[in-house]
Amino acid sequence: MLTTLIYQSQLSAECSDNDLRILSHVACEKNISMQVTGILLFNGTEFFQVLEGEEHDVEPLFRHICDDLRHTEVVELMRDYSAYRRFGDTGMTLFDLRKVDTKALVDEIRHMNQAQYRDLPDDRVFRFIKRFINQGGWYRSSENFKPSQWKMASNNYSRQITPQISEQGNICTFAFQPIVEPITGHISSFEALIRSPEGKSPEELFASISSESLYTFDLESKAIALQQAGRMLRTDEKISINLFPGSLYSVPGSVALLSEQIRQANLRPDQVIIEVLETELIIRMNDFHHSLKEIRAAGIGIAIDDFGSGYSRLSLLSKFQPDKIKLDRALIVDIHKNGIKQAMIAAMVKYCEDMGIKLVAEGVEKKEEWCWLQSIGVRLFQGYLFSRPCLNGIGEVYWPVRIGEDQNIG
Ligand SMILES: Cc1cc2nc3c(=O)[nH]c(=O)nc-3n(C[C@H](O)[C@H](O)[C@H](O)COP(=O)(O)O)c2cc1C
Repeated sequence: MLTTLIYQSQLSAECSDNDLRILSHVACEKNISMQVTGILLFNGTEFFQVLEGEEHDVEPLFRHICDDLRHTEVVELMRDYSAYRRFGDTGMTLFDLRKVDTKALVDEIRHMNQAQYRDLPDDRVFRFIKRFINQGGWYRSSENFKPSQWKMASNNYSRQITPQISEQGNICTFAFQPIVEPITGHISSFEALIRSPEGKSPEELFASISSESLYTFDLESKAIALQQAGRMLRTDEKISINLFPGSLYSVPGSVALLSEQIRQANLRPDQVIIEVLETELIIRMNDFHHSLKEIRAAGIGIAIDDFGSGYSRLSLLSKFQPDKIKLDRALIVDIHKNGIKQAMIAAMVKYCEDMGIKLVAEGVEKKEEWCWLQSIGVRLFQGYLFSRPCLNGIGEVYWPVRIGEDQNIG
């Protein structure tokens, strides 16, 4: 299948002009032998390359190029499929933007195009090329957040409680994981993650529950999480609990029950945030919307969980804005290498800033992911990089510390 792949990258300090000429020469021969075309733009510090050819040639070539030490910070920007070759079979052309008239360049590249496809001013690939020529690369980590400048350091502090066992035995247990704000060194809240009574995964627990009793179980189990939080948290700390949307709108009196559970746990409503899982299809949207209003009226916070992974609808956000949106891990994984995700997250950061909504990045595991997200304006993070879920307690937190300095950035 004919594919077009576009990426951007940064020139390595070790790469001279002569190295570039050699690179271009070797690449040209190799590309011709594979019938791949590489349009390489260079502005003195950044590369931007369009690779066009059969997918089974372009894919391994791109992986090979990613490992090339003559450049760093390779970010994939676009991957598309097409019915025709835009650039014919021209091997490799290097354009040094410092040496050419950039206004004429777009036309020149357009004229490399096969004649019958020349008049495609709206073609997405050409729009990308034009954007790079006029504006350079996009969404880089700021100088303050270069991964090589940071290490993670433990606060060497944890809390543990012994769960209270009811007469019938507990239906489940909870592990707690903090949501952190590295810039201030503050913990925004602790998410209670459900586990089986033996501490096993939620999948194992939910497999043992019939679909008819799922929503009631979901609500009733929260009493245990809230009780534990009531015994474990300070009065200035918050707990997040997860609920299926259906638990709210199909169990009568659900919000009143939650309020009572909060009261019995000696917590204040403003210490509690309900994270509504958006992976479940919301069928009764109006009833759901009504439940959200009730939660708000009870003084409890609302977050949309796993945003971007399921059925979340922009139309829900247009009707109702939560206190928090938690970006699903699938959007966060390798964000520093993926321009497509970067453009989406940048738009979410802007939306949340404009609407006063807190944005949380879930499932952060790499320093590189944190650095990129922190640079673009995300402030709240959850994930193994900072702290793992801890059964019946709160585990140690790893805060980013600038190498050579003893304090974290807070
Ligand atoms: C910015 C940049 C663009 C490159 N583009 C290509 C290309 O289009 N085709 C290619 O074969 N190699 C390209 N290379 C070089 C490859 O990484 C690699 O050095 C080359 O394919 C020779 O690999 P080999 O010595 O394993 O045969 C590029 C390298 C850089 C840094």
